[in-house]
This record gives sequence, C-alpha cells and structure tokens, in this order.
Amino acid sequence: MTVLVTGGAGYIGSHMVWELLDSGEKVVVVDNLSKGFDWAVAPEALLVQGDVADSALVGGLIREHAVDSIIHFAGSIVVPESVADPLAYYQNNTCKTRTLIETAVQAGVGNFIFSSTAAVYGDAGIEPVREEARLNPESPYGRSKLMSEWMLRDAAAAHDLRFTALRYFNVAGADPQGRTGQSTPGATHLIKIACETALGKRPFMQVYGTDYPTADGTCVRDYIHVSDLARAHRLALQRLRAGGDSIIANCGYGHGYSVLEVIQAVRRAFGGDFEVRNGDRRPGDAASVVANADLARSELGWAPQHDDLGQIVSDALSWERRLQTMNSVRG
Ligand code: UFG
Repeated sequence: MTVLVTGGAGYIGSHMVWELLDSGEKVVVVDNLSKGFDWAVAPEALLVQGDVADSALVGGLIREHAVDSIIHFAGSIVVPESVADPLAYYQNNTCKTRTLIETAVQAGVGNFIFSSTAAVYGDAGIEPVREEARLNPESPYGRSKLMSEWMLRDAAAAHDLRFTALRYFNVAGADPQGRTGQSTPGATHLIKIACETALGKRPFMQVYGTDYPTADGTCVRDYIHVSDLARAHRLALQRLRAGGDSIIANCGYGHGYSVLEVIQAVRRAFGGDFEVRNGDRRPGDAASVVANADLARSELGWAPQHDDLGQIVSDALSWERRLQTMNSVRG
C-alpha cells in the first residue's frame, strides 16, 4: 500500500513525507512545484511533477502504486492574496480538490486526509475554539477550504470514502533533524519573519498592532510544531485504515503566545537582538485564536511531543540558517 501526498514538496507536505517514510510507508508525491522544491522531497519518495487535478496522471499513479490513501496538502495559503484574487483560490483550493476527490472515488481510494485551517472559523470570539463553533470564514482562503470540507463530507456520505480534515492553527518550526523546513520565499508567517530578521535577511520587522484586548496588546496565536502536525496526519491515516469514521479535528496545542512573546523567544534562541517596529493592525487579524484540540487527542490518540515555543523557534532558526547556507552555495 502506498500513500499519495499532494503538495509533498511544500512546507508541511515535505515534513509529512519524512514522517511517513520514518514509519515505513511507501510514498508517492504529486506536486506542481509552483511553491515547493524538488530537493525538499525525501529521496526515498517518488516525486511526480504534475497537477492534482490531472485525473489521468493521478488515477494512473493510484493504480500503478496501489495507493490506498491520499493526504492532500497542495493548495494556496496566503489570506491577503486570496482577497486580491479569490477566483484563483477557488480554482486551486476548491475546484482542484473536487477533481481530486472524484479521482479518489473513481479509483477506489478509501482514505482521504485533508489539510484544512482554523481560518474556517473566522473570528469565533470564543476560545479555545471547538470544532462545533460557528463557521464564519472571513476570507476567500477560509471559504475555499471550508467548501472542500463540505465536498468531502458529501462525497463520503455518497461513496465508499472516509476522510479526516485537520484544521491547522499556526504551523511553525522545522524538522528537528534538520531534513526540511519552511523554504518558501516571501513568507508572511510571524516566526519565519522573525527568524529572517534575526539572521539579517530583513533590516527590521513589524508588530502588526499593539492595541488588541490581550495581555500585552499584541495578537495571540496557537503555534504548533510542524512535526507534531505531521504526526497527527499519520495517526489519522492509521485510524482511517483501521476503519475509523470521518472526522474533522483541530490541530493546535490549546494555548497561545502573543506576537511579543514569540519575538522574545526568537531573540533568546538567536542569542541577540534585532530591530522590531510597532506598526498598524493588519486587516483581518483576530485578537486571539487558540484551539481546543481534545478531539485530536481522544480520536487520533495524538500526544504532542514538541509543545514548546523555545523548541519551535530554535528549529525554525536552525532551518533558516541552513537555507541561508544552501542559497549562498547555490549563488
Ligand atoms: N505578525 C506580525 N508581524 C509580522 C507577521 C505577523 O506582527 O511580520 C502577527 C500577525 O499580525 C498575527 C500573528 O503575527 O497577529 C500571526 O500571523 P501569521 O501571519 O504568522 O499567521 P495568521 O495567524 O495570520 O494565519 C495563520 C496562517 C493562515 C491560517 C490562520 C488560521 O498563516 O494560513 O493561521 O488561524 F489561515
């Protein structure tokens, strides 16, 4: 049996590939390399450059490699970009997911794990936020993911398909063994930006808003180590293979850190200072977003191993250093 990982050359996908290989799985990756990198894919996995909506390609791979499960990461993830170009997000995240689900159903793949997001909640206003909370995505990005969850639910009710949708909170960090990390240029994520600033890739960074109703006035997020997230997917895979029913579960640690706390953690890990300026609020940011992840713990048996902001930022920083060296070698 083989696991097909879409978007396996990207940030979370490349960690997933290592997680699967480490547990003895055979892995085929389909990635169009629009954001990912071929070198990010573990050499033991088969990388096929292509589109997840190319059903002839994906269907052929499913048959050739006896794929029983799909883990679907491929998609676009930048919220402001989705506001500027919503139709591209609906195309890439929703329409292509529809085609992939159809290919899975037609080829008899029974297990489907989907990369969803806390953005489906919008500003829930209640926290920690549970899966039953009101769904009110505030961006085309969040809506494009929610529509995919709905398609999966409907397809699972009608066909021989079971799924797990994992709603990620703020994914950060890098493989503790340094095999992969977040390599996308132009990243917008706080921890990545703080690490880039520490290493001098940026002259300074900004704190977007210091007047939020939080303890220190800056936004609070539930930062989850990417390796813990990858493990949650592997547990979801085990559960589906054992006949588990379809579920949607949050992936976060259940506690949050403010922007200033994150910056302090990066300073500590770096062992030095860097310039941080206070800026205006970024449109669309909620004051605080923290997961209730009881369901992932009880249903998947998920027990996070890296729930430590210090480790998250030091793994992110190590990867950023490695990236710097790789880029200088490549010129
Ligand atoms: N921030 C700064 N300065 C920066 C970058 C970020 O102050 O340079 C702040 C943001 O304003 C926010 C916090 O740091 O308050 C976290 O911002 P990120 O961009 O790292 O993450 P978001 O919480 O905005 O979004 C993340 C994912 C989305 C996902 C969302 C779900 O990037 O894809 O979580 O809650 F939809």
